[in-house]
Amino acid sequence: MITRKKISQILSSYDQENLAICTLGSHSALNIFKGAKEEGFKTVCVCKENDKILYKKFPLADEILIVREFADILKPNFQKKLTQLNTILIPHGSFTAYLNTKQLTNSLFVPMFGNRQLLDWEADREKQKQWLSNAGLKLPKTFQKPEQINTLTIAKLPGAKGGKGYFLSNSPKSFRKKIKEMIRRGLLSRKDVRLIHLQEYVLGVNVYPHYFSSIINRDVEFLGVDKRYESAVDAIGRLPASEQLEIGINPTYTIVGNIPIMLRESLLPELIRIGESVVKVSNDIAPPGVIGPFCLETVITDNLDVYVFEISARIVAGTNVGIGISPYAYLRYGENMYMGRRIALEIKQAAKQKKLGEIVT
Ligand SMILES: Nc1ncnc2c1ncn2[C@@H]1O[C@H](COP(=O)(O)OP(=O)(O)O)[C@@H](O)[C@H]1O
Ligand SMILES: [Mg+2]
Repeated sequence: MITRKKISQILSSYDQENLAICTLGSHSALNIFKGAKEEGFKTVCVCKENDKILYKKFPLADEILIVREFADILKPNFQKKLTQLNTILIPHGSFTAYLNTKQLTNSLFVPMFGNRQLLDWEADREKQKQWLSNAGLKLPKTFQKPEQINTLTIAKLPGAKGGKGYFLSNSPKSFRKKIKEMIRRGLLSRKDVRLIHLQEYVLGVNVYPHYFSSIINRDVEFLGVDKRYESAVDAIGRLPASEQLEIGINPTYTIVGNIPIMLRESLLPELIRIGESVVKVSNDIAPPGVIGPFCLETVITDNLDVYVFEISARIVAGTNVGIGISPYAYLRYGENMYMGRRIALEIKQAAKQKKLGEIVT
C-alpha cells in the first residue's frame, strides 16, 4: 500500500512553489485544467492519441503526455517523470473506471489530491451502503433474493458502466422472465445472476448535488447541482406507449451529458445536512475523511423525500455544468468559481500554509 508516509517523502522532494496539476484526459479534465490555470498552476494532461485533438483545441494543458491506455500511468518510469514535474494528480471518474482500486491504492505513488482510501469505498456497493446508512440517509430498499421483490425494482449488474443492461421488474416472476431474456440476448451470463444487486426503484426525479469538503477551511461547501441526460432512458418518453410496448424496450442509462439545476430553496437545508453527515462518517471509516469534491446521486420523490443511491468520492463530470458559471459557487465565492478551480484554490492555499501533506494521499 502507498502510505501517507511514502507520499510525504515524495512531497518533500517537490518544489512546492512550482507544482503541476495533472489528470487523465477525459471526464472532467477541461474543468480541472481551466481551474488550475486560473489559479496559476502548470498543467499536465495524460491522454490517448485519439483524444489529443480535444486538449489541443482548448489550450489548457501545458504538457500533453500520450499513453496507449490510461493504466500506463502506473509504469514506474512514467510516475517518476510526473513526480519530477512536481505533480499533484486529480482523480476523476476515469481513474476509477480504468484503474482498479488495488492499482490506485497500491501502485500509484504520485501524490493525489483527495483520500484514496475512499475510492475503494466508492467501488464497493456494500461499503457504500454502509457509509451512507451510517450517515443516517434514506436509501432505496435492497432485496437479498429475487423472491423478495415486492415493488418496482432495479436490477444492477456487477461492474456495469452507465447502467448498461440494468432492468426493471416488479415481482419474482417478471424478474425470472427478464433474466431469461437477458441471457438469451447475451447481456448476462448465468454465473453473474447471483451477483445482481436488487434495489427498490424510487419514483422521482434525479438530483446530483456537488460538495467540496475543505480541509483548509474546515467546511463542507455546497457548490452545484446537475441532472443527467441519459440514453436511452431520456428518449423512451418520446415514444407513444403503444410503440414502447411493441419494441419491449428496457431503459439503459448511458450518460451523454449533464444539465444544471437550481433546486427549490427549501430542499437545500436537508441536502446540506446530508453532505455534512457523509463527511462526518467518512472521518470514522477512512480518516481524515473526504478531502475535496464528492457527489451524491439522489432521487427526490413527490413527498420531497431525498433517497441517496450512490456516492462518488471525487469530482464528478456533472460539475462541468459549472465551468465559469456555477450559481451556488457564485453565492459562496462570487464570480467564476467552479469545481475545477475550487480544487486548485485548495491546493494553492494548502501549499501556501505548508499543509500540502494534509490534502494529498
Ligand atoms: N434506486 C433507484 N431508483 C431510481 N432510479 C435509479 C435507482 N438506482 C439507479 N437509478 C437510475 O439508474 C442510473 C444508473 O444507476 P447507478 O447505480 O448510478 O449506476 P452506475 O453504477 O452506472 O453509476 C441512475 O443514474 C439513475 O437514473
Ligand atoms: Mg451512478
